[in-house]
Amino acid sequence: MKYRIGNPFETDAVLQKGRECDKENIEYFQIEETEGFRLSYRMTPQDIIWGLGENQKGMNKRGGVYVSYCTDDPNHTPDKKSLYGAHNFFVVDGEEKFGVFIDYPSKVTFDIGFTHSEFLDITVEGKDFDLYILKGTSLREIVQQFLSLIGESYCPPKWAFGYQQSRWSYMNAEEVEKIVDSFLYYDIPCDAVYLDIDYMEKFKDFTVDDASFPNFEGFVKKIKDKGFRLVPIIDAGVKIEKGYDVYEEGIEKNYFCVDEKGEAFVAAVWPGRVHFPDFLNPEARRWFGLKYKGLIDWGIEGFWNDMNEPAIFYTNKELHKAVEKAKEAQNQNLDIYSYFELRDAFVGLLNNLKDYQDFYHKSEGKLVNHDKLHNLYGYNMTRAAAEAFEEIQPDKRFLMFSRASYIGAHRYGGIWTGDNHSWWEHLLLNVKMMSSLNMCGFLYSGADTGGFGGDVNPQLMIRWMQFSLFTPLFRNHSAMGTRRQEPFAFDEGTLHILRNIIRLRYALIPYIYSEFMRALLNRDVYMAPLAFHYDDERSRRVEDQLLVGDALMITPIYEENAGGRYVWIPEEMLLWKAVDYKNRSYQIYKKGNAYLEADMQETPIFIRKNHIVLLGKHGSSVEELCHDELEAIAFVDSKATYVYYDDDGTTKEYKNRQYKEVLIEIEKIKNDFQITIINKGNDKLKKISFEILDIQGNMTKKIVEVS
Ligand code: GLC
Repeated sequence: MKYRIGNPFETDAVLQKGRECDKENIEYFQIEETEGFRLSYRMTPQDIIWGLGENQKGMNKRGGVYVSYCTDDPNHTPDKKSLYGAHNFFVVDGEEKFGVFIDYPSKVTFDIGFTHSEFLDITVEGKDFDLYILKGTSLREIVQQFLSLIGESYCPPKWAFGYQQSRWSYMNAEEVEKIVDSFLYYDIPCDAVYLDIDYMEKFKDFTVDDASFPNFEGFVKKIKDKGFRLVPIIDAGVKIEKGYDVYEEGIEKNYFCVDEKGEAFVAAVWPGRVHFPDFLNPEARRWFGLKYKGLIDWGIEGFWNDMNEPAIFYTNKELHKAVEKAKEAQNQNLDIYSYFELRDAFVGLLNNLKDYQDFYHKSEGKLVNHDKLHNLYGYNMTRAAAEAFEEIQPDKRFLMFSRASYIGAHRYGGIWTGDNHSWWEHLLLNVKMMSSLNMCGFLYSGADTGGFGGDVNPQLMIRWMQFSLFTPLFRNHSAMGTRRQEPFAFDEGTLHILRNIIRLRYALIPYIYSEFMRALLNRDVYMAPLAFHYDDERSRRVEDQLLVGDALMITPIYEENAGGRYVWIPEEMLLWKAVDYKNRSYQIYKKGNAYLEADMQETPIFIRKNHIVLLGKHGSSVEELCHDELEAIAFVDSKATYVYYDDDGTTKEYKNRQYKEVLIEIEKIKNDFQITIINKGNDKLKKISFEILDIQGNMTKKIVEVS
């Protein structure tokens, strides 16, 4: 049900517009008109609140305050209320079950039992927004309704499911090549190496520094010939510099955001003073998007969009105020409060909320204050790129993911979760966040594995990799000045384990890709809380385990020096402790609480009852994987079915149902298993070797030729 309050700005978050309902009869909420609006819902003690995408705290959002206002906060400690994304969808899951989406592009505050333990209070700062209420009988059904409303998620190329190595920054061509050669030398699969801001000339978008990357086109090709893609960063701010084409054209055509006098707004980011392209203006969006073509023509097939909250280091106005304060302070004897005031004048320059009120977008001939549309900025930068890709090479799938986002952006790209730290707490936060991101449509997502800020130790690196191997975006990224995080930057024992984990990821690609595509095509999620399938009270409260696709449950280990962890087993399951993907030992777990031992080299993977997981061999890159012979591990009590999906991995033909499916069915008949395979178009697949375990733990091995 859609309720329109006032005259909202069109965000394009929702695709199915639907009929508007009478706003005098909004169910569930008490509504109060304040300076904006306040909506209150009285929760029962049993209610769980799922969703809200990229946010702090638990999968169950009760107990926190969350402010939707895209923020560049590299120090996201638990008390922070805003991160890089603004995802206003949540599900109330108790006796009453319903989903809520507040389609409003500026600040919305969700106080979920923080001020008053029983109340869920939503404060919308403005008077114009759309409210959607989706009723259903289960969490899963409500999320699926929402995903249908907002439209199909972005689909990356298949190579983007490989492992990706990043660092701020690999400074020049030699350093990049050394990284690539090390992956080859140590025989570790990897599909992409990232170019952070230092590949550019003076941090200018769409330029390449000739001195550090001479003959860039030739270099891209050389690296591709070695089996790797290069993925450059693009930042939101355009450097102000005479003669720089992006700057000159943007000024000439009025494509930048403006200040109250109508002049291009100035802020400072990496290159110093910049202008922000007005991504809300379709013409400016197209202009900026088509700039990616230069790099595409040089062979680039993927990008990451950054600093698009947009991040602001300072503006002249606020800097001037701070400097004046400092001048005054020079001759004073500052007491604690005046010292704090001085300090805050400088600290507060970064992402100052006042700055966001000082610039404007052009929308349908009118100027609209940025603050009122703030959360749409990163979204529309991603859209600029995706719409241009569509124009440049309509049938090709490009890799694209962004830092800032709003619901709707999920159709144009994925996201990564920004500048986390090499803290165990951020590994756990990553685990909790993944299912919420999926519920908001961001299927292709992941965190900086190993942590961006701070120094990672070997065991955190290993445990984080053991988790990230299941996230669609599997990228190791770290900040300048921190300990090196590439697998070969560690001691030999750690390197050996990391290599095995990455190989395990490649072996699992048939399953991971198939499940990702199933979720995408069926408006479903890829990673989910246990509550998606198990609705007993115990399972609903599990905060540190996840379902991955239809067949797997994972129980990441996120504590230092832990030799295992407590787990909840919601029904009988088969545990595969993977040291590498070849040597397998299994154990049956009964329903209940258990302690799971898993030393540093073991990745615990649980296979659900009557489910099948498929795996291949590893290769040095996704394109190297052959998949003519697969292995299946199945845990079967009565009957298990699996639909194995595959496609060309590069085009958008999947949208025309041009994909291959193999239906696999295993049925227990007396003491044997009958296997049926129906192959719809997968002419590569020749053979599947099965390891089938029954409820007693007896294993049956079978090999089936596929025709
Ligand atoms: C931002 C990004 C980070 C990147 C850095 C330099 O902090 O979040 O990933 O490495 O900028 O570009």
